[in-house]
Amino acid sequence: MNIAIIGSGYVGLVTGICLADIGHKVVCVDNDISKIKKLKNLELPIYEPGLEDLLKRNVKKKRLSFSSSVTDASKKAEVIFIAVGTPSKKNGDADLTYVEGAARDIAKGMDSYKVIVEKSTVPAHTGKEIKRAIRLVLHQKHKNKRVKNIDFDVASNPEFLREGSAVTDFMNPDRIVVGVETKKAEKILREVYKPLKARLIITDINSAEIIKHASNSFLATKISFANAISQICDKVGADVLKVVEGMGLDKRIGRDFLSAGVGYGGSCFPKDVDAFVRLSEKVGYDFSLLREVRCINESQKKAFLKLIESHMWILKNKTVGVLGLAFKPNTDDMRSAPSFDIIKSLQKEGAKIKAYDPQAMGNSKKIFSGVKFCKDAYDVAKSADCLVVLTEWDEFSKINFRKIRQLMNNPLVFDGRNMYDRQEMKKLGFEYYGIGINSI
Ligand code: UDX
Repeated sequence: MNIAIIGSGYVGLVTGICLADIGHKVVCVDNDISKIKKLKNLELPIYEPGLEDLLKRNVKKKRLSFSSSVTDASKKAEVIFIAVGTPSKKNGDADLTYVEGAARDIAKGMDSYKVIVEKSTVPAHTGKEIKRAIRLVLHQKHKNKRVKNIDFDVASNPEFLREGSAVTDFMNPDRIVVGVETKKAEKILREVYKPLKARLIITDINSAEIIKHASNSFLATKISFANAISQICDKVGADVLKVVEGMGLDKRIGRDFLSAGVGYGGSCFPKDVDAFVRLSEKVGYDFSLLREVRCINESQKKAFLKLIESHMWILKNKTVGVLGLAFKPNTDDMRSAPSFDIIKSLQKEGAKIKAYDPQAMGNSKKIFSGVKFCKDAYDVAKSADCLVVLTEWDEFSKINFRKIRQLMNNPLVFDGRNMYDRQEMKKLGFEYYGIGINSI
């Protein structure tokens, strides 16, 4: 089928390239001309494992192209995905300006039936607003007697892609959620996803929009629950790793997303939890549970800072080596990364920061000041008074800690992702602290 993707960011680009790879003819659109130019030169603006090969393969097979015109791309497409950003406003609302803009631009180019699909994460009732925005533009065109009344459908098809495993997640989805209002739209979206042979949930648009917000909010809730348990473990002398292992073996709970650490970040959980709290308030429900999930996430970072201060005593003029900056491994994304707040707080206490991340150095240099960026973990460790681990990159599990110990001023490690073995580190002569394992 002919498909247009409006918005070539993490979600739009992965969706577009993967839809091409399963056999569709796809145009990815973005208003950032330099990004489109890069893509036409087969350069990816994001780091995502496996995506570059698919980009090259599908451009070569002429199934994938790039454009900066929404109107042109929409004309040829039968299905148009809106995958533009929905950033958080100050009050936590999702900012839907770009969604409305895309809907209006699509309508300007419409001269035949289309299915316009919400791919971006949007609050319930957005589908209704998109329909209204398109109707307004069509009415305007109709009034100027430029076009006969055109039929169209709006649908919701939220993504469940995790950064760093987005291609795998697209090709092997647990489920594909499709919110539609007509059989015609349902048939078309079944056709789009047929090659994936995946489990399709067909529902109405509101329910599909809620499924997305509720899923991400529940995952964030699991993480905050594990983080709260880690604080209790440190107070009662329990081992959080054993506790979550014991919990996770109950198949009604499941071990995934129960890892205590310095908290969740990324472009989705913080934004989606905020938007869901706001949507709930707007419809008259006070989602206090979710507000508490957010508070726990913030206090987890504060607790980690307190742990560092309690063992460093004076931070002023001390050198703190930071391993890992990205909000999680296998991505270069720094959006709402815990490292941002933690490094800012350490700097406020007068600490000197050295840092290294395998992928996120480029993005980090744009948001940090006064940080010495290093070429690897050993460079970070050199003359450091302590080491702080914030992202559990696989690369960091292969570090030679004997060498690290030689390089550091003081063999003191704070592991914000519990990625090292406590006994091992003590045997190597380190004073080692993690999350929820410090009083066993
Ligand atoms: C998330 C959802 O998983 C995905 O379905 C949705 O489409 C987009 O948002 P993503 O934000 O890319 O994906 O990353 P994810 O792997 O979910 O991790 C989010 C954050 O939670 C990261 O900061 C990670 O470090 C943290 N996390 C995850 C924990 O702190 N503990 C865990 O057990 C799991």
